Amino acid sequence: MIINYAHRGASGYCPENTMAAFQRAVELGATGIETDVQMTADGELVLIHDESLYRTTGVDKLVKDTTLAELQKLDAGAWFSNEFTGERVPTLDQLMELVKREQIMLNIEIKSGVVLYPDIERKVIEKIRQHQLDQQCIISNFNHYSLAQCKAINPYIATGILYMEGLYRPWDYAATVGANALHAPKYAVTAEWVAEAKANGIIYNVWTVNEPQEMKALLAAGVAGIITDYPDRLQSIISGKE
Ligand code: G3P
Ligand code: MG
Repeated sequence: MIINYAHRGASGYCPENTMAAFQRAVELGATGIETDVQMTADGELVLIHDESLYRTTGVDKLVKDTTLAELQKLDAGAWFSNEFTGERVPTLDQLMELVKREQIMLNIEIKSGVVLYPDIERKVIEKIRQHQLDQQCIISNFNHYSLAQCKAINPYIATGILYMEGLYRPWDYAATVGANALHAPKYAVTAEWVAEAKANGIIYNVWTVNEPQEMKALLAAGVAGIITDYPDRLQSIISGKE
């Protein structure tokens, strides 16, 4: 069964990476959530895409220089629409509670490309263990050294290689990093590659796919997961309503 991952939650309808967006994703039929993890000054794991707080809270400061208590006073919803005023930057713990309750998948994208957060891999894996979500999580990252480190910490937690450009035989590369999945941009996927990856034990999860025609083509190509801002569109196609 294909996994319908809501990208930053249902970010087509709600402010990205807020509990409102995650809750809406479940209501719209998502069977997985994709989120971005960064770390506060006091070492707490929080869900926000950018290293800076500016775009989604209006405060010109880096996450790494802000404590969790300071962060939780900020409004992460009003930038999107007044309807969402009062939404906060959630913690990874908050989302994990929802994932456990709803029995869905969680794609945890660790952001450790621009700011290198000390020991973030170990902290994320410890949260997965605490919440007993080993079978429901995949860790993804554009920083593949970080993914290799995750595997060294716990080889049983799935990892996915995020990339932008066309890699040559990316399934071979994934194997060198010890990864389980290719998190490919939508323009770097063909049915042949999906089949060859599968034959080598590697699955494809593809981002960020919002157009129904593109969703249909990827489903036909046999991908394992699609990451979308509009999980309702994908759900309609999967259930044959469209
Ligand atoms: O996981 C896919 C996608 O989230 C990667 O890009 O910038 O949206 O985190 P970005
Ligand atoms: Mg992401």
